[in-house]
This record gives sequence, structure tokens and C-alpha cells, in this order.
Amino acid sequence: MASIKPHIETKRFILRELDDLDEADLFEMDSDPEVHVYIENNPVKSMDEIRHAIAFLKKQYTENGIARWAVVDKVSSECVGWCGLKYFREPLNNHVNFYELGYRFKKKHWGKGYATEAASAVVEYGFKHLAVDMIYAITHPDNVNSKHVLSKLGFHYVEQFDYDGDPTDWFELKWADWGR
Ligand SMILES: CC(C)(COP(=O)(O)OP(=O)(O)OC[C@H]1O[C@@H](n2cnc3c(N)ncnc32)[C@H](O)[C@@H]1OP(=O)(O)O)[C@@H](O)C(=O)NCCC(=O)NCCS
Repeated sequence: MASIKPHIETKRFILRELDDLDEADLFEMDSDPEVHVYIENNPVKSMDEIRHAIAFLKKQYTENGIARWAVVDKVSSECVGWCGLKYFREPLNNHVNFYELGYRFKKKHWGKGYATEAASAVVEYGFKHLAVDMIYAITHPDNVNSKHVLSKLGFHYVEQFDYDGDPTDWFELKWADWGR
């Protein structure tokens, strides 16, 4: 039996699973070096890399029921970026089996509140529909825009840890503290 796919609506966006039709928008976003400054600094060079990434996400949707979602502008139908919860089965910073919030947007759309709007809806989905106790997030210590988004959502900085040799900031938001 086919499962019902999550489909979330915010003021400006539809959040849905990423699909092949998003290839061109994802390429526009992920081939931009500025988008990748705080995320491994390795922008994509080919559409093949995007196709692999989408295939990897589809695997996560099947295995975990959730992964990063496309953020689609309701008026233009453009996929402006992605936002969503990734389920970690492998240990990271001494945690295992947890949900991590992530987001990424085309540079031309930064500073318009897109990440905050989409991530608020994703966090609400995590607490209300997945009933998780805690959502985590990680950022490069210098990624001030991302840290600002996390603080607007109510996340708390916990500590810095070593992520494959890179210092990385670890944040968390407890269900009990959400919306306070
Ligand atoms: C981090 C990122 C997702 C933020 O997305 P966004 O839609 O610009 O975020 P918002 O507009 O909701 O909030 C960003 C905050 O950054 C600041 N900001 C101001 N001007 C900005 C600009 N031109 N661009 C980005 N952020 C700006 C503001 O403080 C803003 O909050 P405020 O409006 O309450 O003052 C986006 O910059 C991005 O995609 N970066 C590349 C990928 C990345 O680093 N992802 C996060 C990995 S942890």
C-alpha cells in the first residue's frame, strides 16, 4: 500500500518531497560557491551529482519516512531551496537515532525569512506529528545567518564538537521548551 506523503503549507510555501523535477533548481543552488562556504566548500559541478543527491533523499524517504523537503514558492512554483529533518541512525556527537534540522536556499532568496518560515513548519511537524522529544541542529561556528535562524526558532547552543576534523556547533530544541 502506498504511504501518504507529507505535504505542508506555510504562508508562502509548499513543503513536499524532493523529486527529479527539482534537478534544475537544486543545480542552480548547489553550484553556487557562496551557498557552500560553511558546508564543506564543495559546490556541485555536474547534474549527475544532483541526481545522486535526489536518489539518496528518495532512499531516506523510503527508509525513514522523512528527509529534507523541497520548499516550493506557491506563486511561482519555483523550488527555492530545501528544509527538513534528517534521521541519523549512525552516532554523531555521542547521539544516535535522532532528527536533525537542516536548510539550504538559493542565494538570491537569502534574507527574506524563507529559512525561518520553512523551518518553523518543519519543527512543528517534528513535535506534533513525529512526537519527538528533541530536535537537534548543527552549524559551522561562523555561519551567523544559520545560527540566527536557530535562535529565532528557540534552539539552544549546547557545545562545540569535532565533526570529521572540523569544529562544529551543536544545538538542541526540546519539545517542552518549544514555543516558549
Ligand atoms: C543559512 C540560510 C539557510 C538562511 O536562510 P534565509 O532564508 O536567508 O534565513 P532568514 O531570512 O529566515 O533569516 C536569516 C537571518 O540572517 C540575517 N540576514 C540579514 N540579511 C541577510 C542576507 N542578505 N542573507 C542572509 N541572511 C541575512 C538576518 O539576521 C536574518 O534574520 P532577521 O531577518 O530576523 O534579522 C541561508 O543563508 C543559506 O541557504 N545558506 C547556505 C547554506 C547553509 O549555510 N545552510 C545552513 C547550514 S547549517
